Amino acid sequence: MKTEYDFFMIERDHLKGKNIFPFQVYVFNPLHKKYSMFLNGNRPLTKELDIFLEFLLSRGGKIAVLKKQRRTFLTAQDFHESEIPSLKSRELHELEKERIMNLKLKEMYDDKNGAFSFQSEFEIACETDNFEKIIEFTRIEILTFSVTQSHTISLALHLTKSHLHTDNYLNRIVATSYLFAKTANILDPVALADIICGAYLSHIGYTQLPLTMLKTPVLSLGEKEKRLFEKHTILGNHLIKKSQLDLSERCKKIILDHHERINGNGYPSMKHGESIETLSLIVGSIAHLFEFSSGKINGNKQPIKSIIINMKNKTFSPGLEFDFGDKVYNSLVTLINTDKIEVKKVA
Ligand SMILES: [Fe+2]
Repeated sequence: MKTEYDFFMIERDHLKGKNIFPFQVYVFNPLHKKYSMFLNGNRPLTKELDIFLEFLLSRGGKIAVLKKQRRTFLTAQDFHESEIPSLKSRELHELEKERIMNLKLKEMYDDKNGAFSFQSEFEIACETDNFEKIIEFTRIEILTFSVTQSHTISLALHLTKSHLHTDNYLNRIVATSYLFAKTANILDPVALADIICGAYLSHIGYTQLPLTMLKTPVLSLGEKEKRLFEKHTILGNHLIKKSQLDLSERCKKIILDHHERINGNGYPSMKHGESIETLSLIVGSIAHLFEFSSGKINGNKQPIKSIIINMKNKTFSPGLEFDFGDKVYNSLVTLINTDKIEVKKVA
């Protein structure tokens, strides 16, 4: 995805009344903070397009050109870069400098390690009980996000910089949710930041519950305790509201709805089907996988691989959930190549 770092802005006059250009013309939409291709290189700016461009500019749009086409633009339009204000060098903000450094680090990491296969790495992590590589890859990638896009991205960057270092229970859920969302083709940094913040904050409501309750497997709780435990979603939502943390509505939904299930048997609102956001189901399913594996549900630890096999075979066992909707469920049961595991077992 292209960001503001990929473009420089020009004025309408810089097109000099020409109607064909060897460079691509983009338009920046200030409402959505996105750049869209307006005119491809060497395509005519027809009268209709010209009128439309004028309309977009009158609504606050800006004309932009890719920085990699800077030389083509300057030559074709006969400008020196000192004549284009956005090309004059400016002092970068500290966070911009940091991002440029992080982009270089990511390049070096990719050169050194080659393509990253989440499915293979997840399988190795589960086998070795070591998620360091998954957490490291996630951290390096998130740190390349642009801070200027949304408050939730800024918070995701802050949480990543401060916490996504060590291989611990919460970081396993955060990093796996992030990479799992990508396998479900969720690639927009804004949505991925919602996943990061939602995964980090979805259990903040636990802070309002008795510690003994949190140490007791869910299935061993009495009815009254269970009802109180289930309030961690509402309590988390309440804490976020009280804190006035500037989170996107979708991220707030992840915190509130991560226990909602497609068949309507979830909580707190017994939401049903498509009324549950996919991102809530993603974080909910990954958190459930780790919760079940660690014994937080039924008191017995179980390897993630065998949980996925049980989910795939729909082998019912108390507390095991797989009602996350077809899309999430199908991605979840293919997280590990269970056919290969079954072959291994037979051998
Ligand atoms: Fe939860």
